[in-house]
Amino acid sequence: MNRFTDRVVLITGGGSGLGRATAVRLASEGAKLSLVDVSEAGLAATVEAVTAAAPEAEVLTLIADVSKEEDVDRYVADTVARFGRIDGFFNNAGIEGRQNLTEDFSAAEFDKVVAINLRGVFLGLEKVLKVMHEQGSGMVVNTASVGGIRGVGNQSGYAAAKHGVVGLTRNSAVEYGQFGIRINAIAPGAIWTPMVENSMKQLDPENPRAAAEQFIQANPTKRYGEAPEIAAVVAFLLSDDASYINAAVVPIDGGQSYKY
Ligand SMILES: NC(=O)c1ccc[n+]([C@@H]2O[C@H](COP(=O)([O-])OP(=O)(O)OC[C@H]3O[C@@H](n4cnc5c(N)ncnc54)[C@H](O)[C@@H]3O)[C@@H](O)[C@H]2O)c1
Repeated sequence: MNRFTDRVVLITGGGSGLGRATAVRLASEGAKLSLVDVSEAGLAATVEAVTAAAPEAEVLTLIADVSKEEDVDRYVADTVARFGRIDGFFNNAGIEGRQNLTEDFSAAEFDKVVAINLRGVFLGLEKVLKVMHEQGSGMVVNTASVGGIRGVGNQSGYAAAKHGVVGLTRNSAVEYGQFGIRINAIAPGAIWTPMVENSMKQLDPENPRAAAEQFIQANPTKRYGEAPEIAAVVAFLLSDDASYINAAVVPIDGGQSYKY
């Protein structure tokens, strides 16, 4: 499949996990990529993975913090300066935040998680939708979470932010459909990435694998998801194959969010 030939896709959180797997998938389908992350080493590793999968791929890397407006202005401007347009936007960067009861979840931690996971998604939408509106076309996928549609527990900041991402997705999708722009969200369950590994270390510092086993047993598929399984869905949603899907929040969780 070459659904992204001559298309420019911007990915935040491109230096790890879901962002990296999506970069590899889209480059393999012909996309030109602009990858944003706070981690220079992460971006370098993604470029290596992309080049291995798609040696001809054009890749721009940009160090930026999605929670800072001046950084978002810069990553959008630099992408347009290099490629002239933005066809697809995977608005994906996020952090897991601390895991504990609400009474122990500090306001400072709440603000930190919301700044990256919600304000960062809003800022990306604000700036990228302006470019897409002028073009008269575009596709966006925001990364929410099962924690954005269900109560997971011990995640006040994360839950508030991810429910907010679902709200932002639906709100902007109904605004921009008339301009030829589709906006959807994904709601991944437990996907084995560095973020999840860190979460397991918080739950059980001595034996993160044992903490992980609880999630495996609770999932109908009895396994974690893998990042390429998310990338495949993001690629579909950003492609013309999903031309009548707008304002959807797509669970990718092995059935976890529907299990009683
Ligand atoms: N892995 C899962 O199970 C899972 C489940 C549901 C949702 N998600 C969401 O998927 C997204 C990607 O997570 P992942 O699992 O790939 O995690 P990850 O930690 O592997 O990757 C996240 C990337 O975002 C970058 N990042 C963090 N803060 C940033 C900032 N302020 N500005 C720019 N980049 C920043 C990190 O450096 C990292 O490269 C996140 O929004 C996360 O909440 C993940």
